[in-house]
Amino acid sequence: MDKFIIKGGRPLVGEITVSGAKNAAVAIIPAVILSDEPCVLENVPDISDVSISLKILHEMGADVETINASTFRIDPRGINNYCVPYESARKMRASYYFLGALLGKFGQARVSMPGGCPLGDRPIDQHLKAFTALGADCNIDHGMVDVSGKLVGNQIYLDVVSVGATMNAMLASVKAIGLTVLENAAKEPHIVDLANFLNSMGADIMGAGTDVIKIRGVGKLRSTNYSIIPDQIEAGTYMVAAAATGGDVLIKNIIPKHLEPISAKLEKIGVNVQEFDDSIRVWVDGPLVKSNVKTMPHPGFPTDMQPQIATLLTLAEGTSIVTEGVWEQRFRYVDELRRMGADISVDGKVAVIEGTGELMGAPVKACDLRAGAALIIAGLAAYGITEIEDIYHIERGYENMDLKLQGLGAEISKKSFQEEVDIIKEAL
Ligand code: EPU
Repeated sequence: MDKFIIKGGRPLVGEITVSGAKNAAVAIIPAVILSDEPCVLENVPDISDVSISLKILHEMGADVETINASTFRIDPRGINNYCVPYESARKMRASYYFLGALLGKFGQARVSMPGGCPLGDRPIDQHLKAFTALGADCNIDHGMVDVSGKLVGNQIYLDVVSVGATMNAMLASVKAIGLTVLENAAKEPHIVDLANFLNSMGADIMGAGTDVIKIRGVGKLRSTNYSIIPDQIEAGTYMVAAAATGGDVLIKNIIPKHLEPISAKLEKIGVNVQEFDDSIRVWVDGPLVKSNVKTMPHPGFPTDMQPQIATLLTLAEGTSIVTEGVWEQRFRYVDELRRMGADISVDGKVAVIEGTGELMGAPVKACDLRAGAALIIAGLAAYGITEIEDIYHIERGYENMDLKLQGLGAEISKKSFQEEVDIIKEAL
């Protein structure tokens, strides 16, 4: 119910620090279940998907201790429940990682089947294919996915390159008997991070980051202290925000290698990008020019940056074509951008953007996480006031986005639903 109010038209200038990666954290937190001892996780982002994951662990019997805002000690030894109920699972699609982690540890799991999704069809057939290949029985019954069995390593070929199925196959096979060879695996940075985390507990995983991952099952996983990688997409979002506002921003706590597809595309659009060891400077000193973008699994241009880069292209000179190569429907935000003056037509998975060079503030609604981030970028670049509704989508995956942007000089504030009610009451 809360809103962001943005007064746009101000270049972002200064330094900003990126938090831990959402899509690594939502897999690594359930992965702690596999340990036989407590684990400490550092650089955990303060976002609602993380709070939900930690709450699920707590509800299942784990002891979750907050050491500071980004560090948690999790003791999984008290887990006595293998079921993630609908109420928790419906709030976060990534709750499907509890399937792989519980199955890998206890040989059984029951998790609510993920429901509808704004990005289009989101099956989990490849997750279930992997579990079945390892010897599990998989059933979908009254909205719940039940998996159980004694797992034995096997050859698994994913028919679709899937981040979630790759991670779930790793989670399920890490303690299975013998060798699992996972082919056509996804290669995103968070896949490598999950493998590094599991290996730091004593797992034997090789090849993460390539399309063949070999997992030799081990009997026991031990305690670890592990720091989650920085969020590639949060960093990319601030890179685009800097470019869209004609700003000059140093983005800190990043891994430049993870940002290469984004940096390369920004340079084509006319944005300056300078890499340092663990930071990246983005600034603009000339016109933005059209470019075509096609999203693909890593190391291609990430789909989770598609709405943000499309927003930038509305400000560039010329006609750009953006093709979505991962999700069925990732252009639902376009209607909102049109309200802000963007000239975009969509046909299936292809959007044609006529750069208008400017956007104007308007009341808009975030329909999902990255769509919300794109609307924030649009609001920062537009002249006038933009009010973004349904910001709970944004808070799922961006830590304190309003405060971080304020640090760069942005005029953005959060208006709570209660404040609005009070204003209306006063006016009556
Ligand atoms: N797919 C199948 N069958 C499956 C699994 C996936 O057909 O069993 C298809 C999907 O329908 C989609 C494609 O494969 O067309 C890729 O899906 P993938 O499984 O890779 O996506 P995911 O694991 O569900 C993660 C991220 C998404 C990100 C995608 C692609 C998490 C929690 N989510 O989703 O992140 O877009 O990978 O990189 O890691 C976001 O952060 O905003 C977000 C949506």
